[in-house]
Amino acid sequence: NQGALWGGRFASGPSPELVALSRSTHFDWALAAYDLAGSHAHARALAAAGYLTADEEARMHAGLDALGVAVQDGSLVARPEDEDVHGALEAALIAEVGAELGGKLRAGRSRNDQIATLVRMYLLDHARVIARDLLRVIDAIVAQAEAHPEAIMPGRTHLQHAQPVLLAHHLQAHAWPLIRDLERLRDWSARASVSPYGGGALAGATLGLDPQLVADELGLARPAENSIDGTSARDVVAEFAFIAAMIGVDLSRFAEDIIIWNTREFSFVRLDDGYSTGSSIMPQKKNPDIAELARGKAGRLIGNLSGLLATLKALPLAYNRDLQEDKEPVFDSIVTLETVLPAFAGMVATLRFDTDRMASLAPEGFSLATDVAEWLVKRGIPFREAHEISGALVQACEQRGIGLEDADDALLAEVSPRLEPSVREVLTVEGSVASRTGVGGTAPARVTEQRAELVRRAQAA
Ligand code: ARG
Repeated sequence: NQGALWGGRFASGPSPELVALSRSTHFDWALAAYDLAGSHAHARALAAAGYLTADEEARMHAGLDALGVAVQDGSLVARPEDEDVHGALEAALIAEVGAELGGKLRAGRSRNDQIATLVRMYLLDHARVIARDLLRVIDAIVAQAEAHPEAIMPGRTHLQHAQPVLLAHHLQAHAWPLIRDLERLRDWSARASVSPYGGGALAGATLGLDPQLVADELGLARPAENSIDGTSARDVVAEFAFIAAMIGVDLSRFAEDIIIWNTREFSFVRLDDGYSTGSSIMPQKKNPDIAELARGKAGRLIGNLSGLLATLKALPLAYNRDLQEDKEPVFDSIVTLETVLPAFAGMVATLRFDTDRMASLAPEGFSLATDVAEWLVKRGIPFREAHEISGALVQACEQRGIGLEDADDALLAEVSPRLEPSVREVLTVEGSVASRTGVGGTAPARVTEQRAELVRRAQAA
């Protein structure tokens, strides 16, 4: 096998079935640019330790640069007989600079420390892209909240009318988990910024190459503390897959709201034509496919995480070939998020809310009953009793088919002498919302304050 990385101790070449199973170039070619960056750094370390002359090092960098151009323009691709990206690029380097020089680069490194380093570099770069895309979704939510500072909607628990809340408060409740996802990406990045390069297959280096030099060249903070751990641990990959899955789950919850709000029965939002789809048979249809795909792809992101964890479970130290299975799930999670997030941001930015309809439904379902109870508490009545009185008022109104705000003075007095006519001051959704001034509450001033903090946290992450 021309250019294979191993073969010296083998009497025969690999069987075609093995080659077919073993090959990973169809997905790890995505790491080609990172592999070349690793090789540049490694060449520097070899030269610094005296294993390459200045001239050899210069020729090595020139050869690697030529490969970089060829990878970029697509003229260099893996051959069918290449096992993985590392072998393919070594073979290409030898073709470029000759076997004598090209054969020197492999000293003091293994594909095990290479791949463990490259996957971190790749994930770190995409963590930045995902964070940027996530920020656009957060920006779109903040802009919608800003555009609707006063709008009131029915707040729900158990999907039942519960208490009125500001639309901005509800929207911002979807932004906070995404802020935490941004912060997760940032925390993860600090943890991921480690270079296993130089750990070799597992046991560490003998050649005196400087691992900090390599880490610096690759933009990673420091070398791995333990060469066995560095080459064989993939918790850093699994954690990335978790964050991706969490983002998917967080988006799916917002997506579900949008899907429900967009039904004829709710009619709380209308989707922009550019961010909705039609039906091939029903001419009138306008469907929320972006929200549905976001919701559906959360399942796929969770699957990528669980699949990876299942691969890692009980793997003995150190490197095992099972670890090659780490890449496809996270690569898929990356493509998924980098496609979903921009569409989601556009959908949110262009939502049109029917705030009149939301406000008119907000008092329904006796959603001000808690306000009545708390009004009584402020007048010295124990909450237990206040709850009973307010509940009795709900029952009386329900029997008469009226809302709490429609109860006349006589009915109020009949339910309880404590229900003086001035209770009506809390029987408007505006009054109810305005009174929830506790920290994190839905009073307009609190929601505005909260939004400022949201924006600050988004910018800091
Ligand atoms: N392609 C492997 C991976 O993705 C790296 C190569 C290690 N192969 C080996 N036989 N040790 O994990």
